[in-house]
Amino acid sequence: MAVNICGTGSYIPAHIVDNNDIAKLVDTNDEWIRERTGIVRRHIVDGETTVSMACEAGRRALKDAGISAEEIDLLVVSTISSNIILPCAACEVQKGLGALHATCFDLSAACTGFVLAYNTAAAYLAGGIYRTALIIGSESLSNLINWKDRGTCILFADGAGAAILRADDQKDSPKSYLPVTHSDGERGCALLLKSRHDRNFLSAASSQQDVDYEGEEYFMQMDGKAVFQFAVKKVPEVIREVLEKNQVQQEEISWFLLHQANRRIVESAAKRLGEPIEKFPMNIQEYGNTSSASIPILLDEMNKKGMLKPGQKLILAGFGAGLTWAASLLDWVE
Ligand code: COA
Repeated sequence: MAVNICGTGSYIPAHIVDNNDIAKLVDTNDEWIRERTGIVRRHIVDGETTVSMACEAGRRALKDAGISAEEIDLLVVSTISSNIILPCAACEVQKGLGALHATCFDLSAACTGFVLAYNTAAAYLAGGIYRTALIIGSESLSNLINWKDRGTCILFADGAGAAILRADDQKDSPKSYLPVTHSDGERGCALLLKSRHDRNFLSAASSQQDVDYEGEEYFMQMDGKAVFQFAVKKVPEVIREVLEKNQVQQEEISWFLLHQANRRIVESAAKRLGEPIEKFPMNIQEYGNTSSASIPILLDEMNKKGMLKPGQKLILAGFGAGLTWAASLLDWVE
């Protein structure tokens, strides 16, 4: 059975922190951040939570699809930064939306999470187990950042994106494709967060209060170079793999939606694949790296701008902590 995306939505916090704001916290500057990452500003929670953003993104996706919350059979939230541990974020979103009939669970695979949520929901739908799924990537990474570590605080940010998937058993519906997914736990130390706290240190750091950053296990730690090298090699590889697995030619792909981690990673993938950069839409300049929210936010922006046309083939490619990386192919039908 084919599976289609029939609605998208996103929620971006209004509060903006630009590179100059960050330069007041750590030894960095706007020019360095733009040049090395492509990021100009990012949006940071100011009262919102991972769950509240997920609810709003989900609500907007339902509206876009023109369906009611009660039609959802499966609700998956991809997140590493939920404000609540039990119950899972997906159950909280169910409550918020009134998705009474949904089976709900969270998925934790960092920046590859949304692609894995898409694959998971698509497999359930293709198998005839459920008919309609809501998948959401929602992150408030600003809570997990040491705002005195210039290697990470320049990159990560907050937001949520969502998509509605529907099983389609019409005769002329497009075919389903097989995803490609990989994990390498041996290299997990490249991007690490060992424990959790419940405070956001940005406002304290911004008002020059003394912040106790003792206990680095409470913050993201990253070997930026190792992650960069992994991404520039594995992203083009996994895209080639998914094309080959599904016997689709690269020139048939209209859009490559890559996780928005760093402009240079996206540019390198385009170059290695021999594709024009215009086929790799980016919004990292505005939102920074929002982990599992980045691909659905980008998808929603493209959808709302009318960039996606029926019949176009898209590749979604995620990569990040784990290490994990994955690519999925889909036909746009909305
Ligand atoms: N501002 C100013 N200077 C900085 C800086 C900052 N925020 N961070 C590092 N530097 C300095 C370094 O100290 C170094 O100085 P030196 O040459 O005098 O020693 C120089 O800039 C280069 O540092 P380097 O660490 O080699 O920078 P980089 O080009 O690797 O860029 C990252 C750093 C983090 C932007 C880059 O490695 C990256 O984006 N990695 C991938 C991270 C990622 O995407 N993670 C999420 C995956 S889902």
